[in-house]
This record gives sequence, structure tokens and C-alpha cells, in this order.
Amino acid sequence: MQVPQHIAIIMDGNGRWARARRRRRLEGHRAGLKAIRRVLKACDELGVSVLSLYAFSTENWTRPRTEVDGLMRLFAQTLDREIDELNREGVQLRITGRRDGLSPALLRKIESSEELTRHNQDRVLNLLINYGGRAEIVDAVKKLIAAGVDPAKLGDEHITGALYNPDLPEPDLVIRTAGEQRISNFLIWETAYSEFHFTETLWPDFDKADLVEAIAAFNARERKFGGLNDEPTDAAAGR
Ligand code: FPP
Repeated sequence: MQVPQHIAIIMDGNGRWARARRRRRLEGHRAGLKAIRRVLKACDELGVSVLSLYAFSTENWTRPRTEVDGLMRLFAQTLDREIDELNREGVQLRITGRRDGLSPALLRKIESSEELTRHNQDRVLNLLINYGGRAEIVDAVKKLIAAGVDPAKLGDEHITGALYNPDLPEPDLVIRTAGEQRISNFLIWETAYSEFHFTETLWPDFDKADLVEAIAAFNARERKFGGLNDEPTDAAAGR
């Protein structure tokens, strides 16, 4: 089985998981955090090198204040509690997204966590917080304009090189949980050639078996990147 090098996940369904149990939405997010730990371990066991997780979008600020505050607290607590363990395991942590809007206390934790794990080479955990794919492209274009790139010479590679994580491979596989089939402004440039897998499983229930199922579905696909792979050309087939 070919294991994708980079898996990116839209973790959806925390709220529905909580509602089904008559619990508060934040408890769904806490259960979602447990799923993150399971999936990170499974990625290690399976040999996935980069895991990108959509934790908070630029649109999520419109959620009720209590939920936004609760999520921000959960991010900060999680960094405090888990960064040493992640570091011991050789994980390089990246927090990807716009920094404005995040509290100074959370920003300090983000910066120290990234600094602590910066030299880890084994694998990358890329958490997208206050992230939007369009915002990322806008930021890239601003960088290029500020650098004085000649519009006549502008190519894909300039945009790719000006994104938040130009050194990471593009996702091979994108998974979205909880039955929705949308990209929701997630890594829209980077996923141009990614395979997509949708599952009804709610994120807090997602486990290694779900991940293996997604990888198996990925393996059943033929990735062509716009080309033809092994199909004979018309000329070779006498057409
Ligand atoms: C989507 O479910 C989930 C989120 C917007 C938040 C994801 C956050 C976590 C998994 C918590 C922990 C994360 C870190 C990085 C510490 P939803 O709330 O949209 O669910 P619903 O569609 O069922 O309402």
C-alpha cells in the first residue's frame, strides 16, 4: 500500500457529535482533540510525514463568542500540555494562518512551540488556525508585489513560493469528515491535484481504521496530474 506523504484533514462534526450526546459544543471540540492524538499516532505508525489539520478558519470568528473563546483556550492549553511530548517524538509543529486576531498570550505560546520544535525532521504537524485559502493567496500576492515581481513574468511557481509553507509537499490526500463535501477555503492552491476522501464519520469518532480506509481509497485511485499515465497514445494504438 502506498502511504500518502502529506494528509490534510477538514475535521468536521464536533458540534453534531456533542449535540447527539446532549453535551455542549465545546465538549465536541475536546473529543475532537482526542481524535487528533489518535490520528497523529496512526500517522506515525503508518509513515505519513506531514499532517495538516484545519482547526479554525478565518470564517470561524463568526461563531458565538463562547465557542470562539473556548476554542482559543483549548488551543493554548493544548500547546502548554502537549508541546514537550510532541518535541520528544520528533514532531515539528507549525501553526499556519494569519496571526492578527490571536491573543498575545496564544501568540507567545505558538512562537515558543514552533521555536522548540523547529529542528525536528521526522514529521510535521501543521495546525491551521485563523487560516483561509483565499487569505493565503492574497498574502502571497502582496508579498510578490512588495518584492517587485514583474507581472509579465509571473508564474505558478511565484505564488507557490510565496505561500505560508512553500517547503512542504502539497497534500496527496484530503479527508473531510461528517458527510460534507466542500473545500471550505482549505488549502485551495495546494490541493489543485490532491485526491479527496469524504466520510460520514464525525471527527471525534475518527480513528486509525478510518484513516486506513481513506488511504486504501487513495490507493485505488489513479493519479494523473492532468496527464494520461500508461494509456497508449493514439498513434501507438493505431488511432
Ligand atoms: C468542526 O466541527 C471543528 C472545528 C471548527 C474545530 C476543530 C477543533 C478541534 C478538533 C479542537 C482541538 C484542536 C486543537 C488544534 C487543539 P464543527 O464545530 O463545525 O461541527 P458541526 O458542523 O457538527 O457543528
